[in-house]
Amino acid sequence: MLNAGSNLPDSSPYIPPTPKTGLPLWLLAELTYRCPLQCPYCSNPLDFAAQGQELTTEQWFKVMREAREMGAAQIGFSGGEPLVRQDLAELIAEARRLGYYTNLITSGIGLTEQKIVDFKKAGLDHIQISFQASDEQVNNMLAGSKKAFAQKLEMARAVKAHGYPMVLNFVTHRHNIDKIDRIIELCIALEADFVELATCQFYGWAHLNRVGLLPTREQLVNAERVTNEYRAKLAAEDHPCKLIFVTPDYYEERPKACMNGWGSVFLTVTPDGTALPCHGARQMPIQFPNVREHSMQHIWYDSFGFNRFRGYDWMPEPCRSCDEKEKDFGGCRCQAFMLTGDASNADPVCGKSHHHGMIIQAREEAEYADQTIEQLAFRNERNSRLIIKS
Ligand code: FES
Repeated sequence: MLNAGSNLPDSSPYIPPTPKTGLPLWLLAELTYRCPLQCPYCSNPLDFAAQGQELTTEQWFKVMREAREMGAAQIGFSGGEPLVRQDLAELIAEARRLGYYTNLITSGIGLTEQKIVDFKKAGLDHIQISFQASDEQVNNMLAGSKKAFAQKLEMARAVKAHGYPMVLNFVTHRHNIDKIDRIIELCIALEADFVELATCQFYGWAHLNRVGLLPTREQLVNAERVTNEYRAKLAAEDHPCKLIFVTPDYYEERPKACMNGWGSVFLTVTPDGTALPCHGARQMPIQFPNVREHSMQHIWYDSFGFNRFRGYDWMPEPCRSCDEKEKDFGGCRCQAFMLTGDASNADPVCGKSHHHGMIIQAREEAEYADQTIEQLAFRNERNSRLIIKS
C-alpha cells in the first residue's frame, strides 16, 4: 500500500541514514490547533491558545518535500481539525505528487460531499473519522456540539459512498466504554472496514481529565471480552469489518514502545512549525527546532531535541540494565515527564519503575471516581487561556 521511494523528483539528493538513526517514515502534519469541537481527551497541548502563527501553504510544501526526500512515506493531516485549513486540498495534492500515502484524520465536522470529491481528485488515500460515542446525546456532550453526531453519520456514509475504506475511530473511556457493543453495532451498520476502539491515552487534555476518564479494570476487561465476542462472530460470518482494540497502558506492567523509540520513525510538525519526535513532546523543557529556521535534515539528524533520547546511553536505571530496553525503549518519554517531572526516567507504567506506585494509585482512584461528563475540563480557547494564566 505504501509507495516509499517512488515518485521522488530526479534531482532528489540521496541522504544516507547515519548507522543508528532510522528514517522519518511517518510525517504527522498538525496543520492547525483550531477546532470546532472541544473533546476533553484531546492530545493537543493545554496551552494551544498561545501557540504562534500557522505555517503557510508554501512552508508546508517545503516540509513535505524535504521530509519526502529523506524517506518519509506516509503523511497524516491532523490538527485540531485539519478541515478548517482552506488549503487542505492543495496540501493533499502536493503530498500525493511527492509520492506520499496520504491520510486525513478528522472529526468530520466541516466535511461536505464536495470536499470529499475534491480530496479524491487531489489524491487522498485514506480518511479516518472519529466519533465520541454511539449515543447521540453523549457524543454531542463530549464534542461540545449539538450537531456533531448527525454530521459524523452523514459524512461517514459519504466517505464510504466515494470509495474510501471506512475507518472509524472511537476513543473509549469510563463514560462510553460500557456501551462498546452499541459502538460496534453502529460501526457495522455504517459498513466500517476498520474500527479503532482506542482506550484514552493520557496526554494533553486527557491527562488533565484523567480521574474523570480512566475506566476501571472491570470496565476494561468487560469491553475487551465483548470486542472479542464480536471479533469471533464477524470472523465466523466472513464479515470484512476489523476491530482493533487498544488498551490503556495504565493497566499494563510493561510500558509501550512509544513512537517505536524516540526519533526513530515519527516526525511531527506542529501548526507553528515546531518539529517534534512525538506529538506530546512539546511540553518538555527542551528547545525543539522549528522548520522555519532549519532544514528537515538538520532537524532529524542533528538537532538536540531529536537526539536527546535516541539509543540507550541516556537511560538511567532501571532501564539501563533492563533486558527489555531494546524492546520498549524505557516506554514513553512524555509520560515519564508528565508523571515524574523528568523525561529520562523509566515510564511509570513499568512495574520496575520507582514511580510505578503512581499508576497503581490512578487505578485505585478509578474505582471511586464519580466525575460526570459535565465536570470534565473541555478543550477550548477559554479553558486554554485560563490554564495559561494560572
Ligand atoms: Fe511522546 Fe510517548 S507520547 S514519547
